[in-house]
Amino acid sequence: MIAKMFNWVNDRLPIVNTFERHLSKHPVPKKVNFWYLFGALATIVLIIQILSGIWLMMPYSNTEEGAFASIEYIMRDVDYGWVIRYMHTTGASLFFAIVYLHMFRGLLYGSYQKPKELVWLFGCTIYLVMMAEGFLGYVLPYGQMSYWGAQVIISLFGAIPYIGESLEVWIRGDYYISGITISRFFALHVVALPLILIALVFLHLVSLHEVGAGNPEGVDIEKFRDEDGVPIDSVPFFPYKVLSALPAMGIFGLVFCVIMFFFPEGGGYFIELANFEEANPLVTPEHIAPVWYYSPFYTMLRAVPDPLGGLIVMAAGVAIFFVVPWLDRSNVASIRYKGVYSKLAITLFVASFITLGYLGTVPVTEIGRIMSVICTFLYFAFFLLMPIYTSFEKTSKVPDRL
Ligand code: HEM
Repeated sequence: MIAKMFNWVNDRLPIVNTFERHLSKHPVPKKVNFWYLFGALATIVLIIQILSGIWLMMPYSNTEEGAFASIEYIMRDVDYGWVIRYMHTTGASLFFAIVYLHMFRGLLYGSYQKPKELVWLFGCTIYLVMMAEGFLGYVLPYGQMSYWGAQVIISLFGAIPYIGESLEVWIRGDYYISGITISRFFALHVVALPLILIALVFLHLVSLHEVGAGNPEGVDIEKFRDEDGVPIDSVPFFPYKVLSALPAMGIFGLVFCVIMFFFPEGGGYFIELANFEEANPLVTPEHIAPVWYYSPFYTMLRAVPDPLGGLIVMAAGVAIFFVVPWLDRSNVASIRYKGVYSKLAITLFVASFITLGYLGTVPVTEIGRIMSVICTFLYFAFFLLMPIYTSFEKTSKVPDRL
């Protein structure tokens, strides 16, 4: 009876076909490493964010009077409200941490190279949408940092010539940040951007399945196939890769719980301490700093004295990821076989990104300002000089097999 029902559905909906094509018969490289876990972890955190977000939405009030009070209500009176809220705030920080590591893997192993350019471009768009999503969400609790952070970010648009001021009013929906702003940010944060994000992740994965996953050696596994046409150096995605990712997911779950239950504020990095106070338009916090995941770009903004110049540099800092597939001219993909200049460039890039990140979280000093200019140069040099150092350096021979 059950088999009959299943066949009835399967004749009308390609369940078995899809399962085989994308899971049980989908060949993936048999040997990858730690860096290849973060895509799966990002998918899990996306699901955690959506589920915890739906439950947070129920008691949250998207009004000027109600927003902060409803967060207090969630934390104190709603059954397990504090777990759900901290799950969402911890998830936000870990989502960015994971996606940064996932992107770094891409840079390390040239995962953006032909034919995976589109996978990378969808990834970059996901990152952009995540940045907007994080910002909108941070305004919702309407704490001091929500208010003043939004004030800083929205007024950045004011630096755009001619349309800047109107744009600011259009984004806020008012002449100052008010209940109208909260209500539109809420709509965008809970409906519009999550839908876009889910659609983009779907496209990211469909395009990846079309061209096939990469590996840390940069070996093309399609070259050698067995008599059935299956790549020799591959295993089916399900159950092998799914099972092998389970221990890592367990460890990640443990780290997630430790943060969520014991260090939810992450020392002021995950939830800034000023955000435990209600927004007050009359009192500016002594030191306005963005959450850690935006801080490298915030430092770039501060490194340029002119507001419009700062905005352009900051936007370019994110936008430049989109052109990486066309900047890398190397004949090998993986850093293992690239030359010494690529290795040096990526080391300096990581050092400058971390330094920029640190500088964005502390008050400006003269030495900090000089460092931020140097690190901004190093950051852009990694990308802009890529066509030169990847063309001229000596690379090593990539093995035929994994
Ligand atoms: C919500 C965020 C994201 C999710 C859920 C996600 C998910 C995944 C998954 C499941 C994979 C396959 C497993 C793996 O290789 O790790 C993957 C691969 C990939 N992702 Fe993402 N990703 C996200 C964001 C990004 C971003 C921001 C970028 C880059 C800007 C990116 C670039 C790539 C690339 C290039 C690959 C192919 C790697 C290869 O096969 O060599 N992804 N992603």
